[in-house]
Amino acid sequence: MQDPEMFAKRAASFGSNAVAYARHRPRYPDAAVEWVVGDHTRVLDLAAGTGKLTETLLEFALEVTAVEPDDLMRAELTRLLPDVPALKGTAEAIPFPDASFDVVITGQAFHWFNTPEALTEITRVLRPGGVFGALWNHDDLSVPWLAEVNELTRSSVGDLQGLDDRTPRHELLGAAEEQTWNHAQRRTVESMLASLGTQSHLLVIDAAERASIFDKIRTYLWSRPETSQGEFDRPMITTAVRATKR
Ligand SMILES: C[S@@+](CC[C@H](N)C(=O)[O-])C[C@H]1O[C@@H](n2cnc3c(N)ncnc32)[C@H](O)[C@@H]1O
Repeated sequence: MQDPEMFAKRAASFGSNAVAYARHRPRYPDAAVEWVVGDHTRVLDLAAGTGKLTETLLEFALEVTAVEPDDLMRAELTRLLPDVPALKGTAEAIPFPDASFDVVITGQAFHWFNTPEALTEITRVLRPGGVFGALWNHDDLSVPWLAEVNELTRSSVGDLQGLDDRTPRHELLGAAEEQTWNHAQRRTVESMLASLGTQSHLLVIDAAERASIFDKIRTYLWSRPETSQGEFDRPMITTAVRATKR
């Protein structure tokens, strides 16, 4: 079981690197976002961070609202997407009345929530027939060089527990459906390191450990034919789950 203090520290760590987060985290594939949003209108991006998912949502939904607890992440979202209303709030206390949204969607964040409390809030702010969706981007570990990079990225802070079960379960939600999409992020050795440096476990360790991990990864990437010739693709998989409110 993850130490609750470390879990809370990691959940609150992203703002310390918000500008790099916005610049170096991968986007979500349009098809994955469309699969969740469908032809609905009023969408809440919950735990919106710097707006990585919000920017794609704007292509599909007429009204997009963001909720994000971290002031630095929210400030970056507002700087990049000034027309999107961005409110301070958490998944466990969503600052909107009942039935305010057709869709509540969250990117790379459902695992940070207190799941039962969050699903009670999410189903409260969804109208009946509305959709909850959660998305995650992850590296395609069937690619040997990328699997090795993931191994080298491990730090003294352990893995998050419970990430394998992504299914939202609540009495007001129907059965969850899941789908995956392959995509890629264009990277160089240095921008790959910048992407990895936005991971929560690397944000909470001390600078010496982080530098040593980056040195190992840099050396490895420069040694591989796939990644040492300039720009390369970082193969990624997006997993999405969706469930409809009864
Ligand atoms: C990995 S970032 C994802 C940001 C954005 N959704 C994206 O796709 O890039 C996780 C976000 O969840 C937020 N967060 C952490 N705990 C939360 C909670 N209990 N309720 C709402 N947001 C939370 C963090 O502040 C952070 O911005």
